[in-house]
Amino acid sequence: MRLKDKVFIITGATSGMGKAIALLFAQEGANLIVNGRNTKKGNELLTEINSLTESTIFLPGDVGNVAINQQLVNQAIAKFGKLDGIVANAGVLGLGSITEIAIEEWHSTLNTNINSFFYLCKYAIPHIQKSEGVVIANASIAAFRSFPNHPAYCASKAALVALVKQAALDYGPEIRINAICPGPVETPLIWDSAQAFDNPEQAVENAGKSTPLKRLGTPMDVARLALFLASDEAAWMTGSAVTIDGGTMTSC
Ligand SMILES: NC(=O)c1ccc[n+]([C@@H]2O[C@H](COP(=O)([O-])OP(=O)(O)OC[C@H]3O[C@@H](n4cnc5c(N)ncnc54)[C@H](OP(=O)(O)O)[C@@H]3O)[C@@H](O)[C@H]2O)c1
Repeated sequence: MRLKDKVFIITGATSGMGKAIALLFAQEGANLIVNGRNTKKGNELLTEINSLTESTIFLPGDVGNVAINQQLVNQAIAKFGKLDGIVANAGVLGLGSITEIAIEEWHSTLNTNINSFFYLCKYAIPHIQKSEGVVIANASIAAFRSFPNHPAYCASKAALVALVKQAALDYGPEIRINAICPGPVETPLIWDSAQAFDNPEQAVENAGKSTPLKRLGTPMDVARLALFLASDEAAWMTGSAVTIDGGTMTSC
């Protein structure tokens, strides 16, 4: 087991990549505090995880609010007495060009995708320093390229990568801090993203077929990278923005 008795917080674990990361980390022996806003899906996740480990806690809440981030860290310390790492995975799209997107939607997208990372790090880092652990952020290839009508998403993901690099500089050598930058992965979010294209079904199909590996990613493809970055096998990696995209960025 590669994460035996390690304690991790995973945000946005009720769906897609966050859920796959939670299940894989639990399988590898980690104790988890998982988050998302949807309580029904959170309880379904707990049922699945509890067949692997019974110590997981689900704490529902919007990571765009400061308080939930503090509570996630407090729960980890109260229940397990330490924190070895966080996977800041929660994310939303906030579709609409600059002239279309409502100001509230812009703020709420940046709150979820970038401010939440600052909030969680602020409370988690002092504990992760003690355990010499890791921070992982789920960014996107949208940090490096544009997509039609995704300004809030692209700007927030680019900021997330910049903050990961800054934090890696400030908190080494005790903490390793890396970003994962997935390309198109088969989750509910990619279908929401496709609504910004004229033909959404075609857009999703093309996103997979146009890559050198000719398919969309799966949540487990990305979960395996998160596991590697969380484990001691990635001992000389920090400040990296690791692209995992079936080769999408080869033609950008
Ligand atoms: N799918 C892709 O192609 C792709 C590519 C690159 C990067 N990403 C990034 O990967 C991450 C995971 O996305 P996914 O594709 O797995 O999408 P997903 O299946 O839609 O999952 C998104 C997760 O984030 C949670 N979430 C959203 N807003 C939240 C908030 N304010 N507070 C707490 N939780 C929140 C959702 O939970 P609730 O609904 O329960 O709140 C859900 O668990 C995101 O950061 C996304 O930007 C996705």
